[in-house]
Parts: sequence; C-alpha cells; structure tokens
Amino acid sequence: MPQTNRVKIFDTTLRDGEQSPGATMTHEEKLEIAQLLDEMGVDIIEAGFPIASEGDFKAVSEIAKVTRNASICGLARANFKDIDRCWDAVRHAKRPRIHTFIGTSPLHRAIPNLDMDQMAERIHETVTHARNLCEDVQWSPMDATRTEHDYLCRVVEIAIKAGATTINIPDTVGYTAPRESAALIAMLLERVPGADEITFATHCHNDLGMATANSLAAVEAGARQIECTINGLGERAGNTALEEVVMAIKVRHDIMPYKTGIDTTKIMNISRRVATVSGFPVQFNKAIVGKNAFAHESGIHQDGMLKNSETFEIMRPQDVGLNDTNLVMGKHSGRAALRAKLKDLGFELADNQLNDVFVRFKDLADRKKEVWDDDLIALVTQNDASQ
Ligand code: KIV
Ligand code: ZN
Repeated sequence: MPQTNRVKIFDTTLRDGEQSPGATMTHEEKLEIAQLLDEMGVDIIEAGFPIASEGDFKAVSEIAKVTRNASICGLARANFKDIDRCWDAVRHAKRPRIHTFIGTSPLHRAIPNLDMDQMAERIHETVTHARNLCEDVQWSPMDATRTEHDYLCRVVEIAIKAGATTINIPDTVGYTAPRESAALIAMLLERVPGADEITFATHCHNDLGMATANSLAAVEAGARQIECTINGLGERAGNTALEEVVMAIKVRHDIMPYKTGIDTTKIMNISRRVATVSGFPVQFNKAIVGKNAFAHESGIHQDGMLKNSETFEIMRPQDVGLNDTNLVMGKHSGRAALRAKLKDLGFELADNQLNDVFVRFKDLADRKKEVWDDDLIALVTQNDASQ
C-alpha cells in the first residue's frame, strides 16, 4: 500500500470533458477554466489532445505557458508522432506531463490489429520514447477493466520498466463495480514488480452511475490519483465528478482518511462557469452543485433546518462556495419558514398578521410552483394596506 494519504486530483474537463458531443469550448474559455482549476488546487490539468487539431495544440501550449502551480498534461496515442506533438505543447509548462495510452482489452486490441506480443512491444517503445522527452509520463491501458488480468499485469510491468511514473487504470466504458475496482488496484499492487514505486490512478466513466463509488473504492485499495471532470462532464454519461469525490473525502474523512489539495469553496463558481461555457446545464438534483443540493421546501425540513442545519444537511453550503442554504418557499413550506423568510426580507410580523399572510401565501403557493421574495413582499404589503 502507498505510504501517503494524499490523493492527487487530475482534472480532464478540458480533454475527456470536452470530448462530449456539443461541449466544445473556445480558446479563451479553455484558458479561463484552466486558470480556475489551477486556483482551486487541482494537481494535474489534462489540457487537451495536442495532435487532434491546431486548436487543441494551441490551447495546451498556451495553458502550459501560463499555469502557475498545476502540472500540465497532454494526451497522445501510442505512436511517436502523437507523443512528439504532445511534448511540443506541454514542454512550456513548469511541470509538463505526457499521457500516452493504448487499448489493451481484446476488443480494443483488435482495432490496431496487434497481437499481445506486438502490443507489448509497442508499449515498451512508446513509453520509452515519452520518458526520453519528459520526466513525468503517465500510461493508460484503455479499457483496463475488461482486459485479462495476466495481460494487464504484463503490460503494466512493461510500462513501469520503460519509465512510466503514473499508471492510470481506466474504466473506459463505465462497466466496473466498486468491489471490482478496488480488487483490480489491489491485484496490480500485489502482482506487478515495481508497482509500489509509481502512482496508480483511477479513471472512471459513469455509464452505470458508479463512477464516484468506483473511484473512491480504487483509492481505498491504493490508487492515489483520481481522474475527474467538473460537473462530471464527459462522453456518454460522463466521467467521475470532481466535486463528488472531493466532497466525499472531505465529509466522510472518518472512514476515508485521505487528503486532496482542493479549495472546496471554489467549487460552485467553477461548476457554473463550466456549465455556461460547455453549454451543458447541471441537473437540479445533481450532488454538490445542483440548484437543489442545498435547497429545502418541505415544512418539516425547513423547520428542522432553522433549528439546526445538521438536521438535513451533511455539509455546509459555504464549504462549496454558496452563501447559504436556500429555503424555497412553496406549498410544502410551513409557518416557521415563512416567519424566518419574512424576517430576512425586513418584516417582523405579530402572530395574527403572520396567520393572515400564511393563509394567503398557501393559496398563492397552490397556484404557483415557487413563491418568490417579491411575491412575499406583495403579500405583506397588501396586508398592511388592508388594515
Ligand atoms: O476513458 C478512457 O479510457 C480514456 C483514456 C484515454 C485514458 O479517457
Ligand atoms: Zn475517459
């Protein structure tokens, strides 16, 4: 098992996230997101796939030049041309990283039509080439979770011997389950010579909604890098959501005694910026960053929240960069929430006045999904005028 409890956060919003159909970002938008990621304390930013287009190359090079703290990583397939292009883009960074990959499962091996030995040779050559250019090399056996274990151990060992410093284990199609995710990392740590000298990363997709659980299970088994994206942006059902793994580690530190370098108070702002620039809105009930994640409408919940916020919230809204809990006024709200909301708006009503406003509020709430502050002000001032 690794000695450290520090888990590195590798953000791939600008590479795997941007690969979602329709999520393309402009050059300026990518630079802005990279800066926000850096300020938030992300350890590694995967800024793009330099060989994919001139635009990607330019974005990775520029991000490499201006980023202050994070390592800047570019993606490259397992060939010298991709790797050279990637190096040309990332070499400007204070801490450059080349990330090279090849699909190792039977289905993926069939695509370049390489047999197991030919693929093993290709891995040896390309990782060696990358390592001759850059001290920090990450290697990924794509579709690792559907690769035969013996072959996976063999190629991981080759990549380590060729100089890879991080071995990423992708669940490319979101197929694995938490127990398997943990067992795979444990198996590699146990069977592969030299495995305790490098960092294992986990890279999960969310096709079955298990990406966060799978990533955390991999960490519990010894992975020390989580690959993720803001809002879980990514192809198909997306990637592991950065905000979910980071907040799970923070809130459940009692059972997951790990540390990340993320300033969680910056989460909400970057979530909103990524939603805007990618054009992918965040679902209302999305964990951590959804509009309703810290909102309460029912009377029982609102009353509980007013007495003690821990009754219905396991983290403080301020921890993710929100000002406060949102008590949404609707037909399920009770008298205590109405009194508190009106007090916030500057109205302290006597009991009989509150009763009157409450009756008219319920009537309005039956006709309207949400009762806004202006509606409440109108209800109170109509009440004043009629007295
Ligand atoms: O999901 C995946 O396998 C990838 C690799 C390129 C790491 O994104
Ligand atoms: Zn991926």
